[in-house]
Amino acid sequence: MDVVIFGAGGLGREIYDTLLTINAGGQGTQYQVLGFIDQVKAPGTLVNGVPVLGGSEALAALRGRAAMIIGIADAGVRKKLHQQYRADFAFPNIIHPTAQVSGFARLGSAILIQAYCIVAANASLGDGVMMNAHSGVGHDAQVEDYCAIMSYCDLAGGSQLGTLSFVGTGAKVIPSTRIAAESYLCAGTVVFKDVLEKSKLMGNPAKIIG
Ligand SMILES: CC(C)(COP(=O)(O)OP(=O)(O)OC[C@H]1O[C@@H](n2cnc3c(N)ncnc32)[C@H](O)[C@@H]1OP(=O)(O)O)[C@@H](O)C(=O)NCCC(=O)NCCS
Repeated sequence: MDVVIFGAGGLGREIYDTLLTINAGGQGTQYQVLGFIDQVKAPGTLVNGVPVLGGSEALAALRGRAAMIIGIADAGVRKKLHQQYRADFAFPNIIHPTAQVSGFARLGSAILIQAYCIVAANASLGDGVMMNAHSGVGHDAQVEDYCAIMSYCDLAGGSQLGTLSFVGTGAKVIPSTRIAAESYLCAGTVVFKDVLEKSKLMGNPAKIIG
């Protein structure tokens, strides 16, 4: 499958590594990365040997010819890109070969699951959700559309993460806790109680700071 990665920053380069790992395993879909789409880096710049094709204007020539993978963690940007381009580009689910995804989990589209993640039985991930390395989503947990979960996070069984929420690295949510939409968990936050939408949380136990 021919693909472009939107964003040549840290996450975009991590995704490129994941695609190389998938290809090296020789199982399932193989990915040919045509290039990065990047609003800042000059067209023609090589990023880990892969060319920057240009900013979003470069996508016009690729409609119907390539799939897109979103390489930006910001949840709002993930939603905007998916909704703007999904009529013209496929958005494959990219799952690192070391991740364990239950056959009973439900996955939307445009999902990214990085190395050593676990998605447990009957969990669900909505469209555009990303999980960076070593994160877990427990049994029956629900992660709504476009949430971005950074590395080493744990959303325990039955917990819920409302749409467009961001979970900073190392954050944890105890079982059956509801984090409402557009919330922001700072790095290392441990959440023990339900919180309302647009909550900014920090610390252990988590305190609302905004
Ligand atoms: C919460 C956050 C947004 C704050 O950023 P900031 O406003 O630039 O804050 P600062 O770095 O200026 O720190 C301000 C104070 O808060 C403390 N602090 C910052 N982040 C904290 C966190 N996650 N938990 C507890 N304390 C924190 C700092 O130690 C500092 O304390 P001090 O005033 O006693 O020195 C950021 O630290 C964070 O957690 N971001 C998540 C990033 C992430 O996970 N990214 C994914 C990987 S790329």
